[in-house]
Amino acid sequence: MTPFATLLLLPLLARAGITIYQAPGQAAFATSAASANAASYTGAAAYNPTTLTPPPVPSPAVPSSFALQLQTGGTPGASIPQPGDFIGFSIEMSVANQVLGKNATFIQVPFLNLMANIQQRAGAVRVRVGGNSQESAALVAASEIPDGKILQKNLTGVTGTTQTPPLEFSDELLYMMANISTLVNVRWFLGIPWFVTQPFDLAIVGAAERILGDTLIGYQAANEPDLYNAHGHRPATYGPFDYFGEVSDVLTQLASSGNDPSGRARTLLLGPSIADAGWTPEDVWNTGFVDAYSGNLAFLSVEKYPTDNCAAAFNTGAPIIDPQTVFPNFLTHKAHTSLLQPYLNSTAFAQAHGKKLLMFETNTASCGGFPGISDAFGAALWGLDYALQMAHSNFSGAMFHVGGQNVFYNPFTSPPTNQSTFHQWTIGPIYYSALVAAEAIGPSNTTQVLDLNANGGNEFTPGYAIYEAGEPVRVALFNYITDPTGASTVTAVISVAQGGAGGGGATPTQVKVKYLQATSVSQKGSYTWAGQTFGGNFASDGRPTGTEDVQTVACNTTAQTCSVTVPAPGFALVFLSDGAQTEARGAPSTTFATTALTKTQNTATVEASVLATSNGHGGPSDPLGGAGVLGSTSKGRVSGAVGLRPGAVLFASSLGALAFGMVVVGRAVVR
Ligand SMILES: *[C@@H]1O[C@H](CO)[C@@H](O)[C@H](O)[C@H]1NC(C)=O
Ligand SMILES: *[C@@H]1O[C@H](CO)[C@@H](O)[C@H](O)[C@H]1NC(C)=O
Ligand SMILES: *[C@@H]1O[C@H](CO)[C@@H](O)[C@H](O)[C@H]1NC(C)=O
Ligand SMILES: *[C@@H]1O[C@H](CO)[C@@H](O)[C@H](O)[C@H]1NC(C)=O
Ligand SMILES: *[C@@H]1O[C@H](CO)[C@@H](O)[C@H](O)[C@H]1NC(C)=O
Ligand SMILES: *[C@@H]1O[C@H](CO)[C@@H](O)[C@H](O)[C@H]1NC(C)=O
Ligand SMILES: *[C@@H]1O[C@H](CO)[C@@H](O)[C@H](O)[C@H]1NC(C)=O
Ligand SMILES: *[C@@H]1O[C@H](CO)[C@@H](O)[C@H](O)[C@H]1NC(C)=O
Repeated sequence: MTPFATLLLLPLLARAGITIYQAPGQAAFATSAASANAASYTGAAAYNPTTLTPPPVPSPAVPSSFALQLQTGGTPGASIPQPGDFIGFSIEMSVANQVLGKNATFIQVPFLNLMANIQQRAGAVRVRVGGNSQESAALVAASEIPDGKILQKNLTGVTGTTQTPPLEFSDELLYMMANISTLVNVRWFLGIPWFVTQPFDLAIVGAAERILGDTLIGYQAANEPDLYNAHGHRPATYGPFDYFGEVSDVLTQLASSGNDPSGRARTLLLGPSIADAGWTPEDVWNTGFVDAYSGNLAFLSVEKYPTDNCAAAFNTGAPIIDPQTVFPNFLTHKAHTSLLQPYLNSTAFAQAHGKKLLMFETNTASCGGFPGISDAFGAALWGLDYALQMAHSNFSGAMFHVGGQNVFYNPFTSPPTNQSTFHQWTIGPIYYSALVAAEAIGPSNTTQVLDLNANGGNEFTPGYAIYEAGEPVRVALFNYITDPTGASTVTAVISVAQGGAGGGGATPTQVKVKYLQATSVSQKGSYTWAGQTFGGNFASDGRPTGTEDVQTVACNTTAQTCSVTVPAPGFALVFLSDGAQTEARGAPSTTFATTALTKTQNTATVEASVLATSNGHGGPSDPLGGAGVLGSTSKGRVSGAVGLRPGAVLFASSLGALAFGMVVVGRAVVR
C-alpha cells in the first residue's frame, strides 16, 4: 500500500459502522477491523472455513460413456419458452444497504459488475428486495433515520424463529434501485408488508410506482403466509381462504389509498409465495385464487428450501443437522427431481391459466444454509442442476436468496460494513450457478430446456439439451462425483439427428465446450468457469479474472458423434455451433471497473467513458490468493497502481466520492 493510499484510508476507518444484525448461535464478529489486518478476519458465517469430506466414489462405478441422441425440428417434452433472466436473486431487505449500495449516489460497484455479468449472458436480471424483513418494513422520512442511512433495524424486542428485526427505510432505497436500473438491466420485485392488514401499509407501493416505474415488475402479496400462524402473526385457524380474503382487501385498499394512482400495481401482484409449511399450492389454487385475481396476478409464486439449518442457527432445540451427513443429499440429480415433483401439477396449472410460476426464494437450506455445503463447489453444481431442472419443469424463474454476513449460502457477500473500505467481495458457488445458467439459457427469452435422463438416468451425471426455435443449440452435462484418480470422468457421445430421424445427420463437425470446475465438491472459492474465477474470500470486484478458456472438440464425422468429457467433479456447457456460443455470450459486457465509479460534482454517476468491456480481460490471478491485478481495459489506469492489491486500498476523491473496493487509479491519483 502506498503511503498516499494509507492516508486516504485513515479517515474512513474512523467512520461509524452500521450495526450488523447477528443471529444468535452463530459466530459473532471477532474482528479487529482497526488493525487493518483484513486477511485474518474469520468470524462471520459467510467466511466460515469448514471444509467437508467429499462423498465416496459411488459403487458400482457410473458408466463412463453414454450416448445422447438429439434431434432438430422440435423435441417432445421440452419446457415452455424460458427467459434469459430465469435465475435472479432475492436480497433480504435488511441487507439491501450492504449489497446494493449505501444510498442512491453510492452504489456498490461489485454489485453492478455481478449484475452486468449476468446481463451480458441473459439480457436482463430480476432482483427481489424482500424476504422476512419486508413484512414489518416501514417507509419513513429520511430525516427519521440517523447518520444519513437509508435503512435501519430496530433491534428492540426482536423475536421469532428467524429473529428478523423490524426495518425502517427511506425512499432513498428506491432511488438507489432506480439508479441501478439506469446502469444495468435489473428489474425489481418488492413486497407489501403483510403482518398488519387493517389497514395495510401501502406506502412502499406508492413510492415504488413513483420512483421505480416500469423497472418494478411485481409486488409480493405476503411472504410465506402458510408460516404466519406458526410464527404468531395470525390465529391458528388461518388458512388459504383467509389469505384469499386478504388479497381482496389489499386490492380494495390499493384502489382507495392513492398509492396506486394508475392502477398498475393492482396488475402486478404475485402470490401466494407459500413455503410448503402446511399448505400445498393446490390448497391455494382450489380457493379459486388464480381465476378470481387473474387480472391482478403478474406471477404465481412458491418458495422452497430443500431443508433447513434452523436448529444450529437459532438453537431451536430441534436435532442439529450434521453437514457432513447431509452433504451427499446435495450431490445428486435426485435432489431436484424429488424437490420439484410436487410442483409439476402447479406448473401445469399455471400454464393452463396463462400464468408464470416463480420459485420466488430458494437456496440450499433455510436459516442460512450449511457450512461446507452452501459455500463449497458442490453447491455450484447443485444450484445449476436445480436451475435447469426448474426450467425443464416449467417454472418461469427462480431467485437465489442473499442474506447478510451471518449466512453460509450467499451467492455474493459484501464485506462487513465497517470493513468494506478495505475488503472486497466474496463470490459464493451459487453465483457461479446463476452465471452459468444465464449462459446456458441465453438471452432469446424463447429457450427450451429438456432433461435428457442422461447416462441411463444416473443420478450423478445428469444432462440437459437446450433448444432455440426447436433446434438443439447447447448441451449441459454434470458430474457430481469427486474422484481425483480420473476414473470417474464421463464421456457424453452426442449426435444430432435430422428432424426426428435416427442417426447423426445433423451432427456438427466440431463443438465448443466451457467447463465449470474445481478439484473437489468440497473446494471453497476459486472455482473456474471457462478458466475464469472470482477468487476466494474478499477477492472480487465482481468481474471474472483470468483468461477465458473455451475448448474446441472435433467431432467424428464418420461416426457423426461429438465426444465431450466431464471431469469428476465438473460441469460442461457444450455449444453445438459457434452461433450458439456467440448468442449466449450476448452483447459486449459493460462492466464497471472499480477504477470507474467516480462522482461528478453533486450527482454521482458512472461515466460512460469509463465503462469497461470485460469478458476475461481482468488480468492474471495473484498467486497469493488475492484478486487478479487490475483490468486492462479501464481508461485512466495509472501504471503505478498495478502493484496494489484490489481491495487493499480505498480511494476517496476530493469531491467526496467513495466506492467500495475502489482501487487507487485514475485521475484522482494522478491529481
Ligand atoms: C465492526 O463491527 C463489529 C460488529 O459490529 C464490531 O465488533 C467492531 O468493533 C467494528 N469495528 C470497527 C473498526 O468499527
Ligand atoms: C451516500 O453515502 C456516502 C457513503 O456513506 C456518503 O459519503 C454520502 O454523503 C451519501 N450521500 C447522501 C446524499 O446521503
Ligand atoms: C422499536 O421497536 C420497539 C418494539 O417494537 C418499539 O417500542 C419502538 O418504538 C421502536 N423504536 C423505533 C425507533 O421505532
Ligand atoms: C439517483 O438518485 C438521485 C436521488 O437520490 C437522483 O437525484 C439522481 O438523478 C439519480 N441518478 C440517476 C442517474 O438516476
Ligand atoms: C392439480 O391441481 C389442480 C388445481 O389445484 C387440482 O384440482 C388437481 O387435483 C391437482 N392434481 C393432482 C394430480 O394433484
Ligand atoms: C412443460 O410444459 C411442456 C409444454 O406444455 C410440456 O410438454 C412438458 O411436459 C412440461 N414438462 C414438465 C416436466 O411438466
Ligand atoms: C428478454 O426479456 C428481457 C426482460 O423483459 C428484455 O429486457 C429483453 O429485451 C428480452 N430480450 C429479447 C431478445 O426479447
Ligand atoms: C470415428 O468413428 C469411426 C466409426 O465408428 C471409427 O472407426 C473411428 O476410429 C473414429 N475416429 C476417431 C478419431 O475416433
